[in-house]
Amino acid sequence: MTGTTPATRVVELPTLWMREHLHEALAIYGAAMGYGDSVVAGRYGYAVQHTEREGFRAVGAFAETRDGERLVGFGYGYLVAPGQWWHDQVRQALDRRTAKQWLPGAFEVCELHVLPDQQSRGLGRQLLHALLEGLDQPAALLSTPDSDTKAFRLYHADGFVDLARGYHFPGDARPFAILGARLPLTPPRRSY
Ligand SMILES: CC(C)(COP(=O)(O)OP(=O)(O)OC[C@H]1O[C@@H](n2cnc3c(N)ncnc32)[C@H](O)[C@@H]1OP(=O)(O)O)[C@@H](O)C(=O)NCCC(=O)NCCS
Repeated sequence: MTGTTPATRVVELPTLWMREHLHEALAIYGAAMGYGDSVVAGRYGYAVQHTEREGFRAVGAFAETRDGERLVGFGYGYLVAPGQWWHDQVRQALDRRTAKQWLPGAFEVCELHVLPDQQSRGLGRQLLHALLEGLDQPAALLSTPDSDTKAFRLYHADGFVDLARGYHFPGDARPFAILGARLPLTPPRRSY
């Protein structure tokens, strides 16, 4: 452990643990995305439902503190299925052929966030790879704001390709990109 960078570990999180620590995780989501308390609070019920979905998997990054350790980043996802809001939106956003090639049996990377003061140290990449490692699904899918963000750069660098760009989800003024990667994911370009 160096003076300024605490030691961190990235691990898979049992579903029950994730469910019991959703407030902690969603605080990281709010800080990472720059969302206010009301947006974060509104996400809680959805996140609980996500933990109940088939194929749910979560990973977390913990940093050492004087008293133990704290969660500083997390990611989770699950199997996409018709009838889920995101699945049905994405099916509309993609042309029929692309939807048929990518959607069936895919794993959605629903959340991936690292606390701002812990970003750009390799944790996001470690979380993404840990989340997708060893999955049986043929592909991983996600949506992310369509701009030159750290997230966009990470996904493109590690094997995700554009399936749709500039898509508007209902109720959100920002354009989104829908990205997909065949699994297993390309190994990280550098190790940490
Ligand atoms: C996206 C996020 C999870 C990435 O985690 P991170 O720990 O910051 O990223 P890493 O240090 O693992 O870096 C992975 C890649 O991200 C990109 N990246 C990270 N920091 C960057 C920076 N300061 N400037 C530009 N690109 C950067 C790079 O492509 C980097 O790969 P490289 O180091 O080989 O160039 C994190 O930045 C985050 O939580 N962002 C805000 C929330 C968010 O956008 N979540 C995703 C929603 S879809």
